[in-house]
Amino acid sequence: MDNKFYITTPIYYPSGRFHIGTAYTTVLADSLKKYHILKGEDSYMLTGTDEHGQKIETKAKELGKTPKEYVDEMAKMAKELWNKMDINYDDFIQTTEERHEKIVQKIFDKFMEQGDIYKGEYEGLYCVPCETFFTESQLVDGKCPDCGREIVPMKEEAYFFNMKKYVDRLLKYYEEHPDFIKPEYRKNEMINNFIKPGLEDLCVTRTSFDWGIKVLKDPKHVIYVWVDALTNYITALGYMSEDETKFKKYWPADLQIVGKDIARFHLIYWPIFLMALNLPLPKTILVHNWIMMKDGKMSKSKGNVIYPETLIERYGLDATRYFLLREMPVSQDGIFSPEAFIERYNFDLCNDLSNLLNRTISMINKYFGGNVPNYVGTPNEVDKELEEYSIQQIQKFEEKLNEYEIANSLQEIWNLVSRTNKYIDETMPWALAKEENQEKLKSSMYHLIENLRKIAILIKPFMENTSNNILRQIGIQNDELKQWKSLTDYTQLENIKVIEKGEPIFMRLNVEEEIEYLKNAMKK
Ligand code: ME8
Ligand code: MG
Repeated sequence: MDNKFYITTPIYYPSGRFHIGTAYTTVLADSLKKYHILKGEDSYMLTGTDEHGQKIETKAKELGKTPKEYVDEMAKMAKELWNKMDINYDDFIQTTEERHEKIVQKIFDKFMEQGDIYKGEYEGLYCVPCETFFTESQLVDGKCPDCGREIVPMKEEAYFFNMKKYVDRLLKYYEEHPDFIKPEYRKNEMINNFIKPGLEDLCVTRTSFDWGIKVLKDPKHVIYVWVDALTNYITALGYMSEDETKFKKYWPADLQIVGKDIARFHLIYWPIFLMALNLPLPKTILVHNWIMMKDGKMSKSKGNVIYPETLIERYGLDATRYFLLREMPVSQDGIFSPEAFIERYNFDLCNDLSNLLNRTISMINKYFGGNVPNYVGTPNEVDKELEEYSIQQIQKFEEKLNEYEIANSLQEIWNLVSRTNKYIDETMPWALAKEENQEKLKSSMYHLIENLRKIAILIKPFMENTSNNILRQIGIQNDELKQWKSLTDYTQLENIKVIEKGEPIFMRLNVEEEIEYLKNAMKK
C-alpha cells in the first residue's frame, strides 16, 4: 500500500527520568506522524523501551526490585509522559515482552545457521567492580568512566556478527538510495569514520551478566544490545510470528528517527541485519543532533537538566512542543536556554499568533457583529498579493517538511503569521470603516479569517490544542474546512460566525520572573 507511513523512535533506556532530549525525538516523530494523518495517510508510529543489560540489572538491584518490576514501572512512567505530551503512538514495545524475546531468539538462530554469526573471543578493557567492558575512548583518564577505578584487559568467549561480508552491499545501497540517510553528511561520516578504516565485526553476546535474552543453543550467552534492540522495529509488527499482517502492511519503515549518538548502529548494523534477513531497508533514517545546555551536555551533577514536565506544567504543552521543534535544528545541535524559551513564547506565540487572532476577532465583532463576510473577490492589489503569498508559503512548508527540516517548516508558517499581521497594517481596516468602504473592509476581514484557518490547519500536527482552539474561536465547524485538502482554496468560507469575545491563546510572560523560575527548576 502506498499511502502508508510507518515511523519509529529509538527505544529508550529506562535508566532514569526522561529529559527533554528524549522528549524531543518523540515529539518529532509524533508531529510527522500527525502530518501524514492530516494528509489522509495510514500512519503508524512505534516507540518503546530498551530494557536489557547490565545497567538496568544493577539499577533494579539498588532499588531492591527485580529487573522486570523495575522496567515495567519505567515503561508505565514513559507512557504517562507520552500521554501528557499528546504523543499518538500506535504501539509501545518493551524488549522484555515475550513477543519480542521469542523472535529475537529466532533471528539469532537464523544468523547462526546462515553463518553470519560465529563464535570467537571478546577482548576488551574491563572494570571488575562494575562488571562492564569499555572501549579505549570511553575511559576517563584511563580509568572506569563510572566508578573511576582501574580497568584491566579481559577476554571472554563471545559471538560475533560478520559485518565484513555485507559491507560492499551496504556501500552500494548508500550510493543507489540518496534518500536513505538524512542529513546527507551523516553518510560521509559513516563511510570515512567507520567503513573506510575497516569495519570490525560486531560482538553480539556476553557471558558476564544475565539480564538479557538467552541464546537458545548456547544459553550461557545472552544477546548483547544491538541484535536485541534494533530488531524491535520489526518484532513489534509481528515479523516471524503467527500473524504477520502488520508487518506486511507497514514494513519497510518510511522514517526512522535516531539521535546522532546511535547513528552508527542504525546506519551500518541495522541495514546489514536487514540484508541478512533478506528484508527491504527503511526508506529514510533521519539523524538528529542534540539539545545542549550553555555549559555543555545536560547532566544531573552539573544541575542543568530540564525535564519536559517542568515546561508543560508552567507554559502548557503546545508552547513546549513548539519550542522543541522550532528551536532545535535537526542537522545541528540546539541550545536550550531559559532566555530563548521565554523569547519564543513572547514573540512567536504571544505577539505574532495570539495577537493576530485577537485583533481579527475583535474587528469582526466591531464591524460585522461577529459575522465573517463571504468572499467578495480581491478588490485590492494587497489582497491578491496575500493570497499568492499564502499559497506559496503552504508549498514551502511542505517542501521543508518533506525534507524533514522541521524547524524551517515552522519558520514558513510563522512567515505566514507575520505576513498576515502586516496585512492588517497595510489594509488599515479602521480607516476603511471610517470611509465606509464596505467592500474592501469585508474583503480584509475575510482574508484574515481565511489565513487564520490555514494557519490553524498547518500547525495542527505540532500543536493540536492551539489549532483546535483557533478553529473554534473563528467559528470553523464544518469538518471539511479543517482538512489539508481545503488549504489550496481561498474562497469557500460562508456564513461563519466568530466567538463574541476572543480568548487569548498565549499571554505575555514576565521575562525576568520566568527566566528566574526556569533557572531554579534546572537545578532541581
Ligand atoms: O540510545 N538531545 O537509548 P537512550 C537530543 N536504547 N536527543 C537526545 C539527547 C539530547 N540531549 N539525549 C539523548 C538508546 N537523546 C538506545 C536506543 S534504538 C534501537 C536503541 C536521544 O535512552 C538519543 O540521541 O540512551 C537517542 O536517539 C535517544 O535519545 C534515546 O537514547
Ligand atoms: Mg544513549
